[in-house]
Amino acid sequence: MNKVRSEYRCDACGARAPKWAGQCVDCGAWNTLVEALAAPTARNPRAATWTGTLPTVQTLSGVAAAETPRISTGIGELDRVLGGGLVAGSVTLIGGDPGIGKSTLLLQAVVHCAQERPVLYVTGEESPAQVALRASRLGADAGPVQLLAETCVERVIETALAAKPAVLVVDSIQTTFTETLQSAPGAVAQLRESAAQLVRFAKQSGTAVFLVGHVTKEGTIAGPRVLEHMVDTVLYFENDLGSRYRVIRAVKNRFGAVNELGVFAMTDAGLKEVANPSAIFLSRHEQPVAGSVITVVREGSRPMLVELQALVDASPLHNPRRMALGFEQNRLVMLLAVLHRHAGVVMSDQDVFVNMVGGIRVTETSVDLAVLLAALSSYRDRPLPPDLVVFGEVGLAGEVRPVPHGEERLREAAKHGFKRALVPAANAPRKGSKIGIKVEGVARLADALSLI
Ligand code: TYD
Ligand code: MG
Repeated sequence: MNKVRSEYRCDACGARAPKWAGQCVDCGAWNTLVEALAAPTARNPRAATWTGTLPTVQTLSGVAAAETPRISTGIGELDRVLGGGLVAGSVTLIGGDPGIGKSTLLLQAVVHCAQERPVLYVTGEESPAQVALRASRLGADAGPVQLLAETCVERVIETALAAKPAVLVVDSIQTTFTETLQSAPGAVAQLRESAAQLVRFAKQSGTAVFLVGHVTKEGTIAGPRVLEHMVDTVLYFENDLGSRYRVIRAVKNRFGAVNELGVFAMTDAGLKEVANPSAIFLSRHEQPVAGSVITVVREGSRPMLVELQALVDASPLHNPRRMALGFEQNRLVMLLAVLHRHAGVVMSDQDVFVNMVGGIRVTETSVDLAVLLAALSSYRDRPLPPDLVVFGEVGLAGEVRPVPHGEERLREAAKHGFKRALVPAANAPRKGSKIGIKVEGVARLADALSLI
């Protein structure tokens, strides 16, 4: 009988060793050896693969690109981040902090799917009684959902082969283990090998598989990140537990747009989708306040209105603080340098804090102009008009550069009752196009400041 052997592999250089050691003998890195399945020993490659016929090579145009049918999860925002629904045979990794709502969301999704097709929910973290309690709290008919409390991946797959579910949820991948390796569940090697087996199962059986992964404190080690390359879709819950709202971002998607956002609210009956997220990221003030600017971001495929706030205050420190929440800190430092060099505004003795309201994280550069105007508004203590939206990228030469989908952003702002917009000149609509908002196009940062 062929005995499955394990060996140790260096995470840094890939060297193999029969025994564990603290240091890799090849590259000298410390603590990088992890257990892995031994690769089969090399045989004569020709003899091993030669079966008498060669595999056929096809031209790309000859391959029929079948449009994949989608399975709706019954949750519009989840379908949106998945790119229109679940794809049979796909593997989706859903990551996030413990307690953010991964199990809740997936339970809601499988309860909906179970009405039409068989689903299997594998729980390795909670007892079936706990899952049942949660299902009753969600107030949905969870009757047809098949439940399995199991952590051994081989047995999970065996059960799934017999039950033939259309959707399989494994909650969580960190609690599953494979019998072929000796390391503890949750170790990197266990995580990779269990996930690899589940991916193989998904592809062979056409089952849509969800893997739940907790983001660990270190973020990268033994967390969902080590699995990102193996799966088709990676979704992350990205805001913190403090907020009532939950934002899911698709960071990788083989079947849809990347950076797509889904917005939910946590209620006592589970996660409710927020179909109009523009409304929740704005904090409508009674009176205009200094340092607050409304911008339009476009994360994924829809525009969203977001409020950003800045506070500029005299600093007691030698090195004044620059803090950006929901926005890249280095970019803030760069923008303040542009403001100094091209508009002559000195903030080198001031602390600058910038925050995106509602805990959203923005990865786009279209917020540059809004960040600068918010900082300036706070510094001068002069509020901007409350019916104004601002967007545009700011370059190092002090120019205001256009952003994609300008007109769509303007329409979104008009829809929410904004009357004026300050945008890059190239994004200003041509005369005659009716959007219902008064648009000022600027080409330079200095022009924008003189207009305000
Ligand atoms: P959970 O889905 O268990 O998180 P994860 O699987 O990501 O670790 O989330 C549980 C949290 O959500 C918990 O703190 C309670 C809260 N919650 C509600 O507020 N309402 C509900 O209806 C449910 C089911 C959970
Ligand atoms: Mg959970």
